[in-house]
Amino acid sequence: TFSRGQRGEPRPLALAALVRESIGLARSSFPASVEIRCALAERVPAVMADPVLIEQVLLNLCINARDAMNGSGTITVSLRHAWAVRGSCCSCRQPVAGDFVELAVADTGSGIAPEHLDRIFEPFFSTKGVGRGSGMGLAMVHGIVHELGGHVLVDSEVGQGARFRVMLRPLAAALTPANGLAAAAPGLPVGRLAGRVLLVDDEPAVLDFMRELLERWGLTVRACADPAAARAVLEDPAEDCDLLLSDQTMPGLTGVELAGLARRQRAALPVVLYSGYSGALAATAPAAGVVAVLDKPVDPQRLFEVLAAHLPAA
Ligand SMILES: Nc1ncnc2c1ncn2[C@@H]1O[C@H](COP(=O)(O)OP(=O)(O)O)[C@@H](O)[C@H]1O
Ligand SMILES: [Mg+2]
Repeated sequence: TFSRGQRGEPRPLALAALVRESIGLARSSFPASVEIRCALAERVPAVMADPVLIEQVLLNLCINARDAMNGSGTITVSLRHAWAVRGSCCSCRQPVAGDFVELAVADTGSGIAPEHLDRIFEPFFSTKGVGRGSGMGLAMVHGIVHELGGHVLVDSEVGQGARFRVMLRPLAAALTPANGLAAAAPGLPVGRLAGRVLLVDDEPAVLDFMRELLERWGLTVRACADPAAARAVLEDPAEDCDLLLSDQTMPGLTGVELAGLARRQRAALPVVLYSGYSGALAATAPAAGVVAVLDKPVDPQRLFEVLAAHLPAA
């Protein structure tokens, strides 16, 4: 079985210490020309959360802030107890009102174009060049924050900067969450599939996202971050699998090479690859038994259709 990383259980958590620690990490890895300020209020109520996930949220927001500043500027991370909040969640669009613990990351960067504001939380949406942005950062932030019953407020002025405010329920309120588990990511196809998928991607954020997507559709997923591990699964006759879904470009072993291997071991196994350069692959892949090559970033709707066509009927 595949472990869910270091993900733990939500527990009562005082954010100030965690924020201080995470900021230290960011400070040591960001260029010195990026200043990180901290404004942590005293006596902020605790929240119910897994510290590892909150750290992921914070670091993703800080990395985006850094990327938006072209090398120099100021990031301000703040924590406070906010009363009588009124706003609307930038990712799920629901009204946000009442009493919250607010963890905010503000920057002095480029800001967000108004026409992008609606889309920034979508999986794979990125304005960064090929190979620079995965578009998964804010999709992950959306997932984590909503799983905790929280929301994200965003305000931005083009040319001035952006501010992301993660709004979490104070512990007393969070102990009786209206819905404990995952609100779906925005814009994902809803459907049912059945079968076992061997999923291979060397980028952990993408691997995680793809696994959750497949599991949401009802699939059993064997996820490998290392293509060599996937090869071992393919070579083990005791391992059951209905479809191989893999990234093309990975260290050690490409998707096409993995497909060729799969073909020798399991002639009937359908193989689906995704790649940033799918055009070049389309010519060579069919010979390796690849039934479809998808463009990266993967369009979840298209992925659903391809899987539905090649998996045994649900
Ligand atoms: N602090 C910010 N300032 C300006 N734009 C931002 C900021 N944070 C996010 N964005 C925009 O949202 C997009 C999606 O962010 P994200 O999901 O983290 O993906 P990625 O960082 O890989 O592009 C970014 O490409 C960028 O256009
Ligand atoms: Mg990002």
